[in-house]
Amino acid sequence: MWHMYWCCGYKIWLCFLWRDVQVSPLSAPVEGHTKVTINGTNLGTSDASIPTVRLAGVACRPVVEEYVVSKRIMCTAAEAPGRLGRNGSIEIQIQGLGRVYNYSKQFRYVDPKLEAVFPVKGPMSGGTRLTVRGKDLNAGNLDNISLNLGEEMLPCVLDRSSIGSHSTICTTLGVSRPKVVTSVRVFFDGNVRMLDQDPFTYTEDPVVEKIMPLTSFISGGRNLTVTGKNFDSIQQPKMFVWNGKEKSQTTNCLHQPEMSGTVLTCPSPRAPSGIIASVPDTLGSLRLRRQLDTNDAVEIGFIMDGVVAVQNLTNIASTLQYVVDPLFQKLTSDGSSVKYQNNINFVIRGKYINLAASKPDVIVLIGGQNCNVTALTQSVLICTPPYFDYGDKLVTIHIGNLHYQVGYLNYGDPPVSYGWIAGLIVPVVILSVIGIITIAVVYKRRSKRTTTNHNGANATEYLGLSSQTTPPRAVHTIEDALALVKDGDLKAALKPVLVCRERIKLGKLLGTGHFGCVFEAIYEDSDHYNPSKVAVKTFQGKGADIQHLDEFLREAALMTSFRHDHVLALLGICFEVDGNPMIVLPYMANGDLKSYIENSKNAPTGLQLLQFGLDVARGMEYLAENKFVHRDLAARNCMLDDQLRAKVADFGLTRDVYTTEYYSSRDKQAKLPVKWMAPESMERNVYTFRSDVWSYGVLLWELFTRGKVPYPGVDGWDVLQFLKLGRRLDQPDYCPQHVYQLMLKCWSWEPEERPDFTSIVTLIEETVRDNTEVGGEPGHTERGGREDNYHAYIEVV
Ligand SMILES: *[C@@H]1O[C@H](CO)[C@@H](O)[C@H](O)[C@H]1NC(C)=O
Ligand SMILES: *[C@@H]1O[C@H](CO)[C@@H](O)[C@H](O)[C@H]1NC(C)=O
Ligand SMILES: *[C@@H]1O[C@H](CO)[C@@H](O)[C@H](O)[C@H]1NC(C)=O
Ligand SMILES: *[C@@H]1O[C@H](CO)[C@@H](O)[C@H](O)[C@H]1NC(C)=O
Ligand SMILES: *[C@@H]1O[C@H](CO)[C@@H](O)[C@H](O)[C@H]1NC(C)=O
Ligand SMILES: *[C@@H]1O[C@H](CO)[C@@H](O)[C@H](O)[C@H]1NC(C)=O
Ligand SMILES: *[C@@H]1O[C@H](CO)[C@@H](O)[C@H](O)[C@H]1NC(C)=O
Repeated sequence: MWHMYWCCGYKIWLCFLWRDVQVSPLSAPVEGHTKVTINGTNLGTSDASIPTVRLAGVACRPVVEEYVVSKRIMCTAAEAPGRLGRNGSIEIQIQGLGRVYNYSKQFRYVDPKLEAVFPVKGPMSGGTRLTVRGKDLNAGNLDNISLNLGEEMLPCVLDRSSIGSHSTICTTLGVSRPKVVTSVRVFFDGNVRMLDQDPFTYTEDPVVEKIMPLTSFISGGRNLTVTGKNFDSIQQPKMFVWNGKEKSQTTNCLHQPEMSGTVLTCPSPRAPSGIIASVPDTLGSLRLRRQLDTNDAVEIGFIMDGVVAVQNLTNIASTLQYVVDPLFQKLTSDGSSVKYQNNINFVIRGKYINLAASKPDVIVLIGGQNCNVTALTQSVLICTPPYFDYGDKLVTIHIGNLHYQVGYLNYGDPPVSYGWIAGLIVPVVILSVIGIITIAVVYKRRSKRTTTNHNGANATEYLGLSSQTTPPRAVHTIEDALALVKDGDLKAALKPVLVCRERIKLGKLLGTGHFGCVFEAIYEDSDHYNPSKVAVKTFQGKGADIQHLDEFLREAALMTSFRHDHVLALLGICFEVDGNPMIVLPYMANGDLKSYIENSKNAPTGLQLLQFGLDVARGMEYLAENKFVHRDLAARNCMLDDQLRAKVADFGLTRDVYTTEYYSSRDKQAKLPVKWMAPESMERNVYTFRSDVWSYGVLLWELFTRGKVPYPGVDGWDVLQFLKLGRRLDQPDYCPQHVYQLMLKCWSWEPEERPDFTSIVTLIEETVRDNTEVGGEPGHTERGGREDNYHAYIEVV
């Protein structure tokens, strides 16, 4: 407000001061000693006049040797008066200007407190992730966490990314024998906080003595019982298998609390892709084919914090044999139901059923109720069905990670009662007659339904993963989702990509589009720690048919393999209960590039615009190297993170969610961003890296016009005609000549004449470099208004 009184030059000057200043950290323990760094521009003019800083009203002593004229001030926070917590502004007084500037954020003096650690015991080999709980644990700069063992202080290795106000995580180091930690100490800028009274104990390491059984079907999920000692000091024991070349994913073992740390139940992991499953020999006997190559032997190992001995078990039988997955026949070949016969044993036929499963491993559900398994052979499963009054009940079989729907069991039709009509008065009688007619019609229809006895059915099709038909599909878990995928390689690639729906809490709606919506969301890791902000895109109706789902998942697997600073990462995908997929993307604090450059509140300098262009070119170079054609590159489809780094987005799965007026449509089906498309894409539907380069040229034009719609005044369907006449977009007002030359090259009619992304990157890099050297920082330009400043800046390009 007050700066209105100053001349234009200072106006700009202050603007940059506001925008560029960064202070870290924004809190200190009440004892002080915290080193606070202030980065910015125009922070003083000479070594002799270091600006003075006050934090919440308390002086901050400058560290003279760390002062960088104009750019950086470092100072040491003094003790808060009375060692009491306080909040207040960060004031920076710059000599010569005679004014105090308040930073936009507050500074807090706090009194950190430790409350508890979890867990309270861990193995003497270390490796335990110790969560320290308390309050204001993110005060100042956390130096280290140390464990007091009486005779020595042992550091606990800090996970800096975990430092939060209420908890911080560190990993214990090993000790030579079981010991008690008498206190946990946390140092903040040299100030200590302690948690006394033996908060943690190092116990004996766990020992594995026996694993039973030692067979599993290839899809995994069979419960293995592991016996041994001292398992109770491990919060989350995990199991894996390895064959000398490859390690499987780990599975989580469950403690059996009543067995006081001597028994674990661990589901077998899915076999790594290189493992060959054993099948019975041709005579169908239970003898399994020997493992062809002993190098292929699959060994079981455990991850129990830092205990090395359980990772490689040498003294006990720990070789797991993988056999083929069981297969089941459908009850009837046409999906009709099988009639329930009172008290009989219900027989389900199949193959390989008991190779790696015994009765307790197999769960059969009829209408959601248990059908107790009474017998299990290689080809037959017998169970005792639960009782129902009437109706068609779905029969499902669950063995480890495998789930089968074998058909429906018919318990008869609903009873119809006429007796109650007699006592009713006339109008109701009339209504009832209508009712009876309706019921009768329904009854007739139902009784027409074919009910086939399953013994008579010649159903020979086996229900493996590939032939599973899923009438009422319900995707509740990651396993359910994977069960829908036929291709084994794809399945393996997807495992790490799938995340659990429960970990995502949807927040506010960010945008809507053709196929779904984008929401802000919170994602929590498996322990409900480290909640992080993400964006989630939903796809209504996309999961509707399996054909598409397969394609969708394949693309998801490919996209998660992309790792580049300037390509928006796909964090994972998950499924709604109705089977519709959702994709999880990083949250981009500054929204899309187009909105950013259009917004008059942001005043990107010419250098920044070029930097955005360079970021995008680097991302596109990476996609091109990975043989991925974007097809819809435009400013609206690039995102800016909290540090204003541009990332290429909206390709592949993430494409086409925002509806915009930029999509011109001749017919309702085809909505195309014609003003960004290369002529060959419009004419012949050809998309290549070179057509992406054309779109990139249009994006550069958008940058230098601050987000104008291209070809203003030209209708979408006249664009091709316009281009055929040899005409191109005009040079934007403040666009340097050779950047416009680059755009024109991108718009060469012949695709081969357009530059590739690698040469675009090189060219813009040079421009940016020359520019930084000549132009200096925008904050130093002390003339003209914003537009002027921008103009002057561009001139030196
Ligand atoms: C200030 O700049 C230095 C060096 O460029 C950097 O290491 C530090 O993280 C920056 N601090 C803040 C608060 O931005
Ligand atoms: C400082 O501000 C925080 C919230 O910003 C508040 O919880 C705390 O009570 C304040 N402390 C003091 C001493 O005013
Ligand atoms: C800075 O903020 C403090 C308290 O928030 C206020 O007392 C002071 O007047 C402010 N200074 C300026 C220059 O705005
Ligand atoms: C932890 O930090 C304090 C001071 O900040 C230091 O005295 C101590 O030696 C450090 N301990 C370890 C184990 O690094
Ligand atoms: C496990 O131990 C055996 C025998 O000591 C050794 O040959 C093998 O390399 C070890 N494997 C791993 C992964 O440490
Ligand atoms: C199945 O077994 C459980 C426990 O063994 C028993 O309570 C239940 O009644 C049995 N169900 C049937 C249908 O036999
Ligand atoms: C495996 O064991 C756990 C714990 O005892 C149990 O909850 C789970 O149902 C078992 N799973 C199977 C497939 O038997």
